[in-house]
Amino acid sequence: MKPVSEDCSVTAQAPPQTGSAAGSARTLPLDLPAFLTREQHRIHLVGVAGSGMSGIAALLIELGHAVSGSDKVSTTETGRLQRLGLRFHEQHRPEHASPADLIVFSSAIKSDNPILVSARDAGKPIVRRAEALAAIMRSKRGIVIAGMHGKTTTSAMTAHALREGGLHPSHYVGAEIPILGINAHWDSRGEYFVAEGDESDGTIALFHPEHTLVLNVEEEHLDFYADLDAIEKVFAQLITQTAGKVFYNVDDKNAARLCRSFTRGISYGFGETADYRAVDIRLKDFGSTFRVNHRGQDLGEAELNVPGQHNVHNALGVIALASELGIAFEKIAKSLAQFEHARRRFEIKYDSPRFLLVDDYGHHPTEIRATLKAARSIGRKRVLTMFQPHRYSRTKALRKEFGRAFDDADRVVVTDIYGSNEAPIPGVTGQMIADEIVAHGHPGVRYESRLEWVRRAIGNMLESGDLVLSLGAGNIHEQLSALAADLVTAEKLKEIVGEDGEVCLYEPLSKHTTLRVGGPAQFWVEPRNEKTFAKLIRFCREENLPLFVMGRGSNLLVRDGGIRGAVVHPCGGDFEKIEINGVEVTAGAGAKLKEVAYAGKAAGIGGLEWLEGIPGTVGGGLRMNAGAMGMQTFDNVVRVRYLDANGEAHTKTRDELEVYYRNFPLLAKNFAVSAVFRGEPAPLEEIVRKLHASQEKRRTSQPAAKSAGCIFKNPDTCPAGKLVDELGLKNLAVGKARVSEVHGNFIVNDGGATAAEMLQLIEEIKATARAKRGIELETEVQIVGETG
Ligand code: EPU
Repeated sequence: MKPVSEDCSVTAQAPPQTGSAAGSARTLPLDLPAFLTREQHRIHLVGVAGSGMSGIAALLIELGHAVSGSDKVSTTETGRLQRLGLRFHEQHRPEHASPADLIVFSSAIKSDNPILVSARDAGKPIVRRAEALAAIMRSKRGIVIAGMHGKTTTSAMTAHALREGGLHPSHYVGAEIPILGINAHWDSRGEYFVAEGDESDGTIALFHPEHTLVLNVEEEHLDFYADLDAIEKVFAQLITQTAGKVFYNVDDKNAARLCRSFTRGISYGFGETADYRAVDIRLKDFGSTFRVNHRGQDLGEAELNVPGQHNVHNALGVIALASELGIAFEKIAKSLAQFEHARRRFEIKYDSPRFLLVDDYGHHPTEIRATLKAARSIGRKRVLTMFQPHRYSRTKALRKEFGRAFDDADRVVVTDIYGSNEAPIPGVTGQMIADEIVAHGHPGVRYESRLEWVRRAIGNMLESGDLVLSLGAGNIHEQLSALAADLVTAEKLKEIVGEDGEVCLYEPLSKHTTLRVGGPAQFWVEPRNEKTFAKLIRFCREENLPLFVMGRGSNLLVRDGGIRGAVVHPCGGDFEKIEINGVEVTAGAGAKLKEVAYAGKAAGIGGLEWLEGIPGTVGGGLRMNAGAMGMQTFDNVVRVRYLDANGEAHTKTRDELEVYYRNFPLLAKNFAVSAVFRGEPAPLEEIVRKLHASQEKRRTSQPAAKSAGCIFKNPDTCPAGKLVDELGLKNLAVGKARVSEVHGNFIVNDGGATAAEMLQLIEEIKATARAKRGIELETEVQIVGETG
C-alpha cells in the first residue's frame, strides 16, 4: 500500500484558498488506510456536526475507534452519534482533542481553529475529511458517485441496489437517507464501498476507486475553481485513477466529452448511442416508469418513486453500474421501486388534497430548473417557490443563470443569501437574484430580506391546489417546516368554518385596521355564523391556541410582529344581518354601526343617528362602549347575545350588564354575537337632520386621513384632543406617524408608518402631558400583538 502522502497529491492541483480552509494537510508518515481500517485509535473530528463529517464519525465508530468531535453547534446528528459512542464537545477546545492520535477536519474549518493550531504545534497527524474517506475506501472496492447534481440521491440508490443485490456494501452519502437507515455505514461482510464524492474542494481527486459514476459536469463552486477547465481537470484525474469502469451520462455534454475516450467507459442516457438506454419514459406525479435497453436488448421495465427526468438519468446510471456488478435486472428494478427520497431531496413535508409542500436542496440553476420541472409536472394548480441563495461566490458567479432558472414557478419569493462559511461580498445580495429574475421577464417575483417574511409572503398567497417548494442548501427548509406545521392547524380551522367561511395564513393586519399598520395574523379566520364561531372557540381552547376577535379594526393598533394564534373576524352571513322589530334593531356583531343608524332611518327609528359617526362594527362598539356626539353605545343597547369561553351562547339584558366609560368588561373573555339597539319613533326629517349633524361634526373636526379614531380616552379635566392641541403637539411626527393638524387626539398614517413609530409618538405625547400638565393620558385605542 502506498503511503498517504503519495495518494493525496490533490493539493498540488487545487490548493485550498487562504483564510477559508484549514491549510494543507501534513505529509504523514503513517499508512492511513491501515491506521483507519485495521487498527484502533483515538480520533478527533473538528466540525463533526457537518453532514459529511458526521458520516465519517459514524464509520470510525463502527470501525472500533474511540471517536471524539467538536462543533460550534449541536444537531440531531450529533445527538444520534453520541448515542453510538461519540464524545461530543460544543466548542473547539484543544484539551478535548489532546488525547487523540489523529485529527480529521472539515473543509468549513478555518486554519486558525484552536484544535488545529495546537495539533500542528504538537506535530500530530491532521487529515482532511476526504483524505480520511479516501483512505477508508482503499480497504474495499470503491465506487465513487461524482457530479454536480444528484450525487446524494444516486449514491443512496446505488448503496440500496447493492444491498438488495446481496453485496453488503458499506456506504457514505451526504445526507440522511431513510431507506438506508443512516448516512454512513461500515459493513465488514461486503467488498464494496459506495461513496458520494465531493467535488467542491477538489478532494474527489483523492479517490482511487474501482468504479466511478459521472452524473454531470458543469460550472459550480467557482469560489474554489477558476473555471470549468479547472473542474474538468479534477474529474479527469479521478477518471484516470479509476481501476475498473467509468459509467457516465452521455446526455451531459461535459461528462460525455471527459469520459468518452476512456477505454473502460460505459455510457447511459436517452439517445441511441447509449450502452444503457431508457426508452418509453413516462413521467408521473412523484415518479416515472421506463424500459431499459442494453445494447439493443430489452432488460425490462423500471419504476421510480422519485420525480423528474433527472432522476431517470440517475437511476439509469445505477442500473448500468449494478448490472455490470452482476446483479439481476429484476432485483435492481425492485430496489429502485422501493427507493424513497433522501432528506431535503424533493422531500414531501405536507400533502393534503388542498396543498402540497416540498423541500429541495437545489441551489444551482440547473438543479433548480430540474426540480421546478418535476414540481410543475405534478400538475397542481400553481407552483410557489421560496428560494434562499447559497454562498456569495455562487450567487455572484451564476446570477444570470439564476435569473433564467425559475420559469416553471408561478411565484418566487427570494430571500437573502445563506453565506455558509463565506464572508459577504459587497453588493451581492438576494435582491440581486430577484432583480435578475425580474429582468428575465418573470412576472411573479418578490424579495423579502428576512427569512421568516418569506414564509409569511408565501403562506399568505396560498390558494387551494398550490404546491409550495422551498429551495436552497441553507436553512430555508425550516421555514417550509414551520409553514407545514401551521397548515395542519389552518386546515382544521377551515374544516370548522366550512366552505363559505375563510381561513388565511399570515394575513397582514395592516389590511384590516383603519390605521393601516400591523404585522400578520398567524391564522385569519372568518366564521359566518354563531355555530361555527362557537366551534372555533372550543377548538382554540382544546388546542391551546390564543384567540383574538377583531371587527373592523377601527380602534386597534396592532404591533409590527402581528398576532399569534387565531384572529377571528366574524363577518358575512348571520354576522351582518340587521333586523327591525318595532323600535328595535337587531344587528350581528359584524354589521357596521353606521348601517344600524341607516337601518333605523329606513324604519323611521330615531335616536340611533349618532352611530353613523363610529367607524367600527357592532362587536367593536360593544367591546369598548364606543361613543360620539355625547352618546355611548350602551345608551341604546338593550340586549346582548354572546358566546362564553366554552362556546355556550347567552343573552343578557341591559340591566344585567356592567358597563363603564369606553369599557364593557364582559367582552374581555366572552365574544359578542349580536345586539339589540332601541330607538324611538321619529319623523324622517329629524333623523336626516341628526345624521347630517353627525356627518358635519366629523367632517369639520376630524381628519379624513387613515387613523384609529381617538387615540386617548378623555381625561376628566380636559378633552385629550384639546390638551394635545394646547401642548403644541399637532403635526409632531415619528417617521410616517403624525399627530393630525385637524384634531389633536388623532394620529394619522402618512403612508407606510409602522406600529413602532405610532407607539413612540404615543409615548412622546404621554410624556409631554405628564411633564407639562401632570396629566396621565390613557390610550383608548387597543394595543395588541407582538413587537416586530
Ligand atoms: N379640541 C381642540 N383641539 C383639537 C381637538 C379638539 O381644542 O385638536 C376641542 C374641541 O373644540 C372640543 C373638545 O376639544 O371643544 C372636544 O373635542 P371633540 O368635540 O372633537 O370631541 P372628542 O372628545 O375629542 C369625542 C369622541 C370621538 C367622537 C367625537 C364626536 C372620545 C375620546 N372621543 O371626541 O370618538 O367622534 O367625540 O362625537 O370620547 C373615538 O372614540 O375614536 C372617537 C373619534
